Amino acid sequence: MAKRQFLVTSALPYSNGRLHVGHITGAYLPADTYVRYLRARGEDVRFICGSDDNGVASLISARKEGRSVEELTAHYNARQAADFKGLGIEFDVYGGTHQPGFVELHNQISQGFFKQTFDKGYFVKKTTEQLYDEQAGQFLPDRYVKGTCYHRKADGTPCEYPEAYGDQCEQCGNSIDPMLLKDPVSTITGTRPVPRKTTHWYMQLPKFEKPLREWLESKREPKDGSPPWRDTVLNFALGQIKQGLPERAMTRDLHWGVPVPLDDPDAQGKVLYVWFDAPIGYVSFTAKWCEEHEGDWRAYERWWKNPDCKIVHFIGEDNTVFHALTWPAMLMAEGSYQLPWQVVANSFLNIKFPGQEEQKISKSRGTAIWIEEYLKMFEPDPLRYYLTSIAPERQRTAFDVDAFIEANNAILSNTLGNFVNRTLTFAQKYFDNRVPEAGTRGPGEQQQLANIREAAARTTELLEAFRFKDAMEAVINLARQANGYFSEKAPWAQRKTDMAACGTTINVCIQMVKALTVLIAPFMPSSALRCARMLNLPVSPSGQLALPPIAWDEATVELPAGHALGEPVILFQKLDPGQIFADGK
Ligand code: MF3
Ligand code: ZN
Repeated sequence: MAKRQFLVTSALPYSNGRLHVGHITGAYLPADTYVRYLRARGEDVRFICGSDDNGVASLISARKEGRSVEELTAHYNARQAADFKGLGIEFDVYGGTHQPGFVELHNQISQGFFKQTFDKGYFVKKTTEQLYDEQAGQFLPDRYVKGTCYHRKADGTPCEYPEAYGDQCEQCGNSIDPMLLKDPVSTITGTRPVPRKTTHWYMQLPKFEKPLREWLESKREPKDGSPPWRDTVLNFALGQIKQGLPERAMTRDLHWGVPVPLDDPDAQGKVLYVWFDAPIGYVSFTAKWCEEHEGDWRAYERWWKNPDCKIVHFIGEDNTVFHALTWPAMLMAEGSYQLPWQVVANSFLNIKFPGQEEQKISKSRGTAIWIEEYLKMFEPDPLRYYLTSIAPERQRTAFDVDAFIEANNAILSNTLGNFVNRTLTFAQKYFDNRVPEAGTRGPGEQQQLANIREAAARTTELLEAFRFKDAMEAVINLARQANGYFSEKAPWAQRKTDMAACGTTINVCIQMVKALTVLIAPFMPSSALRCARMLNLPVSPSGQLALPPIAWDEATVELPAGHALGEPVILFQKLDPGQIFADGK
């Protein structure tokens, strides 16, 4: 079959803080899982991410931490990259919209994008009143102002979230016009801002309502058999169109960002809106990858301007407006790019510490599990497993610390790990560490081999449909069946009465270990690698990823009798319920 081509992105994290479990489960882990699956199938894939450095979020944090915004964003860019690496989330490129080595190409491509859209007449220049902080002597775009939300929630009741930022309300998800916020306050000085006139370029989003609606409607049941988009994404985006899309200012009165590329005195001292340049980061980082690996940054067009390439964006729910509406409208306006093939959005994650109520993850209240802290204590795979098992694919779910420990012990250690371990130590002890002869297989054996084929098919189907939680459950189900089969056959007793039958059991169990090795790889890559070594599989070192993919089709291919195995090791350590996460500071 011809290779398929995918460009997969994860939302660019703001480089102004550390990453916690909520970030990971939203936009990064499912993307990495998907990419690993695609790679194992031999598809042509690039996985793109990097930091979102521009805009007000970084400026606010830099001021708070008392350092320059360049220093701040470089610092967090590196720490976040280390967190991803520690969790086995491996991008082809991890850039940053204002990082050395990336910022030049990023500005160039962003400015070109803006110019092209401008030349096509999709911007209107308008002078309006904006909020101005007289004490700080500056305008207050976006998060520089806070106030009470004026929108209605999805259920029709007023939102009235008192902490809504000037760009977006984190309670109802709507975008905010800061001039409409009730009781606005400057986050710089705490004073009440005053209106003052300034000039900006507004994108004519209303012109895209119809094409966006048609395009989104086509994603409910795509004619070409592509997986439908999640209802949460479609309903939210279509609901916004129904209310009418406003014209949105795509420039800001700031000195940090991509300079507005217009030969107009009114453009002086202004930059592009961060939500205009950030998604272009996906493009500019791809271009950087092409420059480094192919010697020509323009080769990004093979991904972005090629109708055969499927563009997949993984995001958290709060980014839905931008990825399902604004960004596609930008792409339609610019005209030469592909639209996203799929936008996969996850809901937020709550958290539950032992003896406490479930609550929202909050940095200020210290109710977060930070990746950096986690990695000091634990292996990455138990977290990957648990986060996928509670993936908030349809609605909010909660990270329950007790349940995490329990999942590790009962499922990873007692079921999956135990099965792999008892099979392989048995082979080592009684079969000279080789795969025994298959011998005469009865209905019990045929059943397990059928279970392998079924689990492989089901996992494939679910991964193709972006149903990661269910896909992993199908794999774990196979481990349960395998473990049950081992216990039922009791090879330790068979050994004493019928060595050939015992060999048949262990042969089938090894086939199941092999299938599990392949099928767990997208979810738990380091454990898969460990299994592959225990099975002495030829894991070819790949140039791009630290962990080489084992071909997906290998799940149903049997290891021949006589194959020499590797050294069995413990796959998952038990965790002690007394081990508590240091909560965030
Ligand atoms: N920085 C944004 C956030 O964390 C996400 C930006 S995604 C991109 O919410 F599309 F802009 F890149
Ligand atoms: Zn709101």
